[in-house]
Amino acid sequence: MSGNALWQYRWSDDFALGDPIVDAQHRAFFEEAAALRSALASEEPKDEIVAYCTAFIANLRAHFADEEQLMARIGFPALAVHRQEHERLLARTEEVVAGIHAADCLIDCLLGTHALMEALVEHVANQDMRLKSFMPRQCA
Ligand SMILES: [Fe+2]
Ligand SMILES: [Fe+2]
Repeated sequence: MSGNALWQYRWSDDFALGDPIVDAQHRAFFEEAAALRSALASEEPKDEIVAYCTAFIANLRAHFADEEQLMARIGFPALAVHRQEHERLLARTEEVVAGIHAADCLIDCLLGTHALMEALVEHVANQDMRLKSFMPRQCA
């Protein structure tokens, strides 16, 4: 593994699509992903981590729905494929969170969580950025 490459991903204004709701959700996502990872790594009490996970899934679900609405509004041609990718990521997130709920030792969940966050960050950085060229032009 190449160290902490994932945690060098941070919100950058290059990720801005120009939609205030989706941009705010993406910005919050980077913070939540880092917070969840450091909570696991520092072995915070399980109740707190489970609460993080519950909020994380709820936010992710709301974000995907809002982003799909945005895609429909701008006529993004690959909406169906992108929605499938959201469903796949949500299923994977639920699996990892179920693992955290069931774990005796949370440090065991760190690798799976790390891989999931990496997949989610890559989704934002690669797939979500495809919306950019379909966004209506903004006044300079
Ligand atoms: Fe997104
Ligand atoms: Fe997306």
